[in-house]
Amino acid sequence: MNSDQISVVTGGAGFIGKNLVERLAASGQCVLIFDDLSRGGEDRITSLVENPLVQFRQVDCADPHAMSEALASVGGQAHTVWHLAANSDIPAGVADPRIDLHRTFQTTFGVLEFMRSAGANTLRFASSSAIYGPFGDVAIFEDIGPLAPISNYGAMKLASEAQINAAVEAFLPRAEVYRFPNVVGAPATHGVIFDFVNKLQKNPMELTVLGDGTQRKAYLHVHDLIGAMFHISKLDGRRLTFNIGPQDEGVTVRFIAETVRDKVSPAAAISYGEGRRGWVGDIPSFHYSVQKLVDSGWAPSRSSAETIVCAVDEIVESRLSV
Ligand SMILES: NC(=O)c1ccc[n+]([C@@H]2O[C@H](COP(=O)([O-])OP(=O)(O)OC[C@H]3O[C@@H](n4cnc5c(N)ncnc54)[C@H](O)[C@@H]3O)[C@@H](O)[C@H]2O)c1
Repeated sequence: MNSDQISVVTGGAGFIGKNLVERLAASGQCVLIFDDLSRGGEDRITSLVENPLVQFRQVDCADPHAMSEALASVGGQAHTVWHLAANSDIPAGVADPRIDLHRTFQTTFGVLEFMRSAGANTLRFASSSAIYGPFGDVAIFEDIGPLAPISNYGAMKLASEAQINAAVEAFLPRAEVYRFPNVVGAPATHGVIFDFVNKLQKNPMELTVLGDGTQRKAYLHVHDLIGAMFHISKLDGRRLTFNIGPQDEGVTVRFIAETVRDKVSPAAAISYGEGRRGWVGDIPSFHYSVQKLVDSGWAPSRSSAETIVCAVDEIVESRLSV
């Protein structure tokens, strides 16, 4: 890689990372991916590095020395780091909180140390709506509080944001914090559509759903997410924090289950559980405000419902082609 200016993408073997790396390389940027492949992704890396602008190093992003050595092996200057590496297996994090400590918080700590020694300029951080905790019917703006996440994952994302704040005070010239809800599209590595498609492929006659199906959430397509991140990256400021999401109240799990069932196995019966909470740390509904982002000049191209229909098609097609 013979470029002075490299964009590092941590977690680049993952779902959002793969889409982001493709967009960055398509715009002519040199990209260096750091990923420990703890969630698989060898096939995604193989296709990404076919582009000569993209390089990959298998490293643990909690280890700043390993990242510095990996950068030196490539040559060039890391100007921007898109930090996407984290634990996305929420049940695994519930069973063992050390997984979120390591993959979600210590990766952020390690990335900041790496950036300090590399003299990197800008951190772009994938945070989450999970940092807020339950606010019931109250609209969630960026400056709402007190913040009281109820999952290990949300707690470690919030701790990451705090550490980033301290880094901006101490040495980091610029940080962009993107807080987004559920993101869908291909290639899915986890999430509700992915789970439903897998269940129906195993048993085409029945789809079992956690909770009573009334849980309502906002969904954003990965292409819209990347469009919003690129938009924010052009705004002025030293520390920017934005909610990113659709402009609606979301769709129910029932809507998603029926959309997947109709696409994958129309004869299947859907059986629901009890209660509104799908898993420990789940927040059954929330009202996410993206007004600040809309006021800055960006709007998503699809509603939550349109996003789900589109993503179900994409995920089913990508599963059939493997
Ligand atoms: N997908 C969503 O709905 C969603 C919602 C909110 C926030 N986010 C955040 O966006 C980012 C990307 O999510 P995704 O959906 O693409 O998840 P993903 O699991 O597909 O990708 C995460 C990647 O991080 C890598 N990783 C984990 N621990 C690592 C470590 N210690 N060192 C190096 N790499 C490591 C994994 O191997 C994986 O490839 C994550 O930070 C996630 O928390 C995602």
